[in-house]
Amino acid sequence: MLSGGGGLTRLLAPAFVAGAVLGGALAFAVTGSPDKSAAAGPRKSDLATRKAAFRRPAQVPFPADNPYSEKKRALGDKLFHDRRLSLDDSISCASCHDRNNGYADGVAKGQGVPGRKLARHTPTLWNLAWSRQMFWDGRARSLEEQVSFPIENPDEMAQPLPDVIAKLSADPKYVRMFAEAFPDDPHIDAVNLAKALATYERGLVSPETRFDRWVDGDAQALTPNEVKGFDLFTGKAQCSNCHTGWAFTDSAFYDIGLKGDDRGRGAVLRISQANYSFKVPGLRELSRSAPYMHDGSIKTIEEAVRHYEAGVVKRPTLASDLPHDLKLTDTERASLVAFLKTLTGDEKPKPPEKIVAVSTAVTSPAVAVSSVAQDDKAFHPRHVKIKRGARLWIVNNDSRTHNVRVFDEKFEFDSGAQEPGETIEMTFPATGSFLVFCGIHPKMELFVDVKP
Ligand code: HEC
Ligand code: HEC
Repeated sequence: MLSGGGGLTRLLAPAFVAGAVLGGALAFAVTGSPDKSAAAGPRKSDLATRKAAFRRPAQVPFPADNPYSEKKRALGDKLFHDRRLSLDDSISCASCHDRNNGYADGVAKGQGVPGRKLARHTPTLWNLAWSRQMFWDGRARSLEEQVSFPIENPDEMAQPLPDVIAKLSADPKYVRMFAEAFPDDPHIDAVNLAKALATYERGLVSPETRFDRWVDGDAQALTPNEVKGFDLFTGKAQCSNCHTGWAFTDSAFYDIGLKGDDRGRGAVLRISQANYSFKVPGLRELSRSAPYMHDGSIKTIEEAVRHYEAGVVKRPTLASDLPHDLKLTDTERASLVAFLKTLTGDEKPKPPEKIVAVSTAVTSPAVAVSSVAQDDKAFHPRHVKIKRGARLWIVNNDSRTHNVRVFDEKFEFDSGAQEPGETIEMTFPATGSFLVFCGIHPKMELFVDVKP
């Protein structure tokens, strides 16, 4: 493994100097962000555009190395509800992630096998197929990687994985189900266990609500008061700066000024600019998953809204995407809360019976460039090709701190904090396809094809 083998040079040049050197990159940033309007925020865009950012996708994304199958999902379903995954056979994943509580547990901080209070609140599991890093602090890189954490965590299920595998292997039903789910590799092992549970979790797609019918064109599906709430959410209150996309999260990490000394993402990345930052939770089925936030400190939706108005602890790491000095009238606050409630279905929620899966392979063609710009939480362009050993410049034209990373067997890279205006130089030491992403805004993805 080559660690930092690309030879990292950080140019601490202000953007305009970088622009003089790398004119091409800046020109791209100005002209090259076609979907800026979807980010809504304070920019006023028309209602149709703002609605479109929240439209339900028809398909559920699955990674190429763990494609969807019904057999895998059925196995994952059984595992998710199986108490044998815990040390004393007392709790399953579903004990903490309960469908009736929006796949959370209804308490500020739950407890695991040894009866100790957990350090953080149990999050909902709806719509994680669209998420990136897992956990409030993003310490697991995928659903597959996440699985071993709760099983082995001494505060949660407290059982070494080999013991779980041994227990399951003794059950002929599991022997058969694993063989059916993994016909090419019919083993009960940690890898297949993780793949099955991850497949089940990707199927936890929240049900359609009135809000979806409204987005799809049924103007009567929401009341005028609720529409006013949507207008505030995507306008004055700037909630959609972070709660965007159909699941109402951009999967990035922000400090929203909650009290406490949990450093969250900052401790994982070892970047102080990301201290007190936590993953943006989705807001679908929100009414069922109280209490809220990584510490379970907020009890109601209205209290959550009031936090953004008056509860924000001011500190240097506070997200620039937060609204400044937000003041809502009582009527406005009520509209915003009424709108948020439309994201919860009327009936007891069920994941869909049928999953229409799509592979998350890269589709846009690769362009040959030597510099890439970052702007509005995205790389421009997003798919490039370069020669092995050639330099690639990454120019931060954004107003936010980024953290450029590659995590690959052939090449590991970590830029540390990349402030606005800073340029990073990367050299890929090996051929192949690499994913470059931001550790703080993981949906910022750049695919790099390195040719000989
Ligand atoms: C004892 C309660 C408990 C049990 C049992 C449990 N979890 Fe969790 N789960 C949590 C807590 C608490 C967190 C948040 C921890 C953190 O972020 O530091 C979490 C986080 C997660 C996340 C990350 C969600 C996100 O938005 O990033 C996933 C996925 C998950 N759990 C799946 C599982 C699976 C699968 C199992 C069974 C193998 C399981 N959990 C068992 C309490 C539990
Ligand atoms: C800067 C990005 C950002 C903005 C803007 C933002 N949020 Fe959040 N939101 C977050 C993050 C991050 C969390 C989780 C914070 C934590 O637990 O530490 C969160 C949590 C929440 C939660 C709790 C969800 C749960 O399941 O725990 C609600 C509700 C919420 N936000 C609503 C809103 C509303 C309403 C607005 C607009 C007034 C808004 N947010 C604006 C980033 C943002």
